[in-house]
Amino acid sequence: MLLKLILVQISILISMEAWASLDSNLSTYIKSFQMKAISKPNNLNEVKYLLGEKLFFEKEISGNRNISCSTCHDSKFGTGDGLPLSIGEGGVGVAHKRFATSSMQVIPRNSPPLYNLGHKDMISLFWDGRVQYRQGWDEYTTPSEVLNGDYPERWDITEALGSALAAQALFPILSHEEMRGQKGSNEIANAQSDEEAWNLIMGRLLKIKEYSELFKKAFPNVEEVNIGHFGNALAHFQEHRFAVYDTPWDNYLRGNNSALSAKEKRGALVFFEGGLCIRCHNGDLLGGFAFAGVASPQTGPGKDIKHNDEGRFLITNNEMDKYQFRIPPLRNIALTAPYFHSGAYKTLSDVIEHYRSGIKGIDNYSSDWLDEFLDKNYPERLFIETNRYMIFKKKEAAHPLISGQIIRMTDSDKSDLLHFLEFSLTGSVRD
Ligand code: HEC
Ligand code: HEC
Repeated sequence: MLLKLILVQISILISMEAWASLDSNLSTYIKSFQMKAISKPNNLNEVKYLLGEKLFFEKEISGNRNISCSTCHDSKFGTGDGLPLSIGEGGVGVAHKRFATSSMQVIPRNSPPLYNLGHKDMISLFWDGRVQYRQGWDEYTTPSEVLNGDYPERWDITEALGSALAAQALFPILSHEEMRGQKGSNEIANAQSDEEAWNLIMGRLLKIKEYSELFKKAFPNVEEVNIGHFGNALAHFQEHRFAVYDTPWDNYLRGNNSALSAKEKRGALVFFEGGLCIRCHNGDLLGGFAFAGVASPQTGPGKDIKHNDEGRFLITNNEMDKYQFRIPPLRNIALTAPYFHSGAYKTLSDVIEHYRSGIKGIDNYSSDWLDEFLDKNYPERLFIETNRYMIFKKKEAAHPLISGQIIRMTDSDKSDLLHFLEFSLTGSVRD
């Protein structure tokens, strides 16, 4: 009996020591990467929030009045749509129950989650970073020339924005595939310029009494509201509605050592050590600003006639940017499947396997699971890149950590890392 007690005590002591060393190892990394918990966004303006919320669910802002932001960004699907690739204007249904009536409606990219996009680190939006904001300079780079540079032609619009997130909202409404509708189908689709389309959308909204009053209340000192204010309100809503700051990882960073289990702590260590995830997914959001190539598989229509998607290169025309995509932030990542820019992977376990296989990940890619969307969402089988030359080019452009097969994980490391991604990074959002 006594021996048993002593043994129990010894094992408790040992496990306490193991715990303490997990904490002290983690704290070294947390300090050296200067990681901080995400804080709750402040300055909530109830009226602006309400306006942004209404706009988020509003179909009037789409050319044919048949789609809203929430069609593809549904909080039931981690603020994405649960599909590998989104289905645009003209499709039927919402989120994962949406069906494309023609293969033309399949958007070449996966709908990304909207968590923490109001955070100051989120200066590059879209998978290819085509909307960017330089805060100190108050300067934008966007697909619309009139908003760009230090003296933008439409300074009255940029002045009203205030963030990359606000600027982003001006683009789904311009995309013929996403929200605007095909030419000939409505007056917004027929507009000759971005500015004309924006004016027509604002015209539609301000004709509705409730909106004209809400805009006036949300921007009381503004003589004439424009599409910049529309973006500003949508950003305000998304920033507050989809802020995630109470995950176990955030609570751990706030000093609560018991917020993570031993397995989660081991998983966090794999994130920093063998997994080398931190080399790309860094900053408080574990991603968000930089770009990298990880030789991710390509599915769907892609961005060019070869069904290829060269990512950031399409924006910068710089060879170095070929097949580079923005490194995504990772809060609530367990809720936002499928993964990668073309939704190539179904589970987080598949994503880890991709990294663990290094350059072979793309060779070993199995697209079988995509068939489950056939007939349910897409009228035709999705294109899958299998061309050896294309795959070779992509591998060539991959980050050395991937091409050199430097990421090493045992099965138990993988299981711990998965646990960290699934549990430690998942938090609630405002209801
Ligand atoms: C047809 C589906 C669809 C609709 C409608 C839609 N989105 Fe998206 N959204 C997407 C897809 C797909 C992307 C990624 C596109 C890309 O990167 O090229 C995206 C990207 C974004 C991003 C960038 C996220 C990031 O991490 O960079 C934000 C923010 C966003 N959408 C908000 C909105 C808002 C606000 C609206 C309404 C004004 C809207 N979306 C309408 C599918 C949609
Ligand atoms: C070389 C830089 C790099 C490294 C190292 C890296 N990532 Fe990534 N990660 C990226 C990029 C870039 C993407 C987007 C790729 C794409 O869409 O094609 C991404 C995407 C992801 C996604 C999908 C996110 C989404 O919203 O679809 C997850 C999950 C992820 N990484 C987790 C990890 C984990 C876990 C590790 C460590 C084992 C890791 N990453 C290592 C750069 C990296």
